[in-house]
Amino acid sequence: MKMESVPQNTEYRQSMGQLLMLYTQVDRLIMEICAERLAQAPDEDAELSLAKQVGDESRHVSIQRQWMREFGTQPTPVITPAQEQMIRAHFRSLTWIDFLADLYICVEALGSEAVERIVPLADPGTRASLRVPLTDEMDHVAFGVARLQQELAQLSETERKEFLTRLPARIEALTDVFHGFGFSVRDMFEAVGVDYDRLCRMLEERQKELIAELAFVGQPPQSARAAVGVSA
Ligand SMILES: [Fe+2]
Ligand SMILES: [Fe+2]
Repeated sequence: MKMESVPQNTEYRQSMGQLLMLYTQVDRLIMEICAERLAQAPDEDAELSLAKQVGDESRHVSIQRQWMREFGTQPTPVITPAQEQMIRAHFRSLTWIDFLADLYICVEALGSEAVERIVPLADPGTRASLRVPLTDEMDHVAFGVARLQQELAQLSETERKEFLTRLPARIEALTDVFHGFGFSVRDMFEAVGVDYDRLCRMLEERQKELIAELAFVGQPPQSARAAVGVSA
C-alpha cells in the first residue's frame, strides 16, 4: 500500500484513525480473552476453534498496526487500560453459554456488521486492510452461533425461551457500557460518512436475524429432543 492511497481530509483521517485503533484494540482483547478461555474449553472442537481464533485475531492486530503506520494518524488508544481490564474481567466471569452470547453475538457478529458498513465508504488502503480480518470474523461468528445452538438445544424449552428473551437486554447492557466509555461512537462513524441512525437500525435487524437463527435451532424435532434428553 502506497502513501498516496491515504486520504488528506483531516476530519476523516482522524476519525478513521480512531476507528482503526478501536478495531485493533478490540481484536487484541478478543485474542487475550479467547486465549484465557482455552484452558476451560468444554471439548476439543471448542479448544481448536478458540486456538485458531487466537491466531486469527493476532494476525488482524498486526495487519491493522501495519496499516495504521502507513495511514499515519497518531496511534492513541481509544479504550483506556482500566476499561480493557474491566472487559477482560467481564468475560472471565461468564459461564460458557453467556460467553458465547456476549463474545460471538454481541462483539463479533454485531461488531463486524458495523465495521462492514464502513468498508464501502473507506479509502482504498483501509478497505484493503479490512479484507482479511472481516473474512475471518465470519468464521468466528459461525462458530459462536453453532455452539450457542448446541448449548440451547440442551436446555429445557422454558430455559431456552428465557435465555432468548433476555438476550436483547444482555446486548443492550454491553452496548451501554461501550457507549459509556467516553468517546462518541456516533461522531466517529459520522465523520467517515456513515449514516449512524441507519446503522443502528441495521444492527437491530441483524440482532433479530441472529436471535431467530438461535430460536429456530432451539426448537429441535422430537428425535433431536430425545437425543439431547429434552422432554417434549
Ligand atoms: Fe478480528
Ligand atoms: Fe474475530
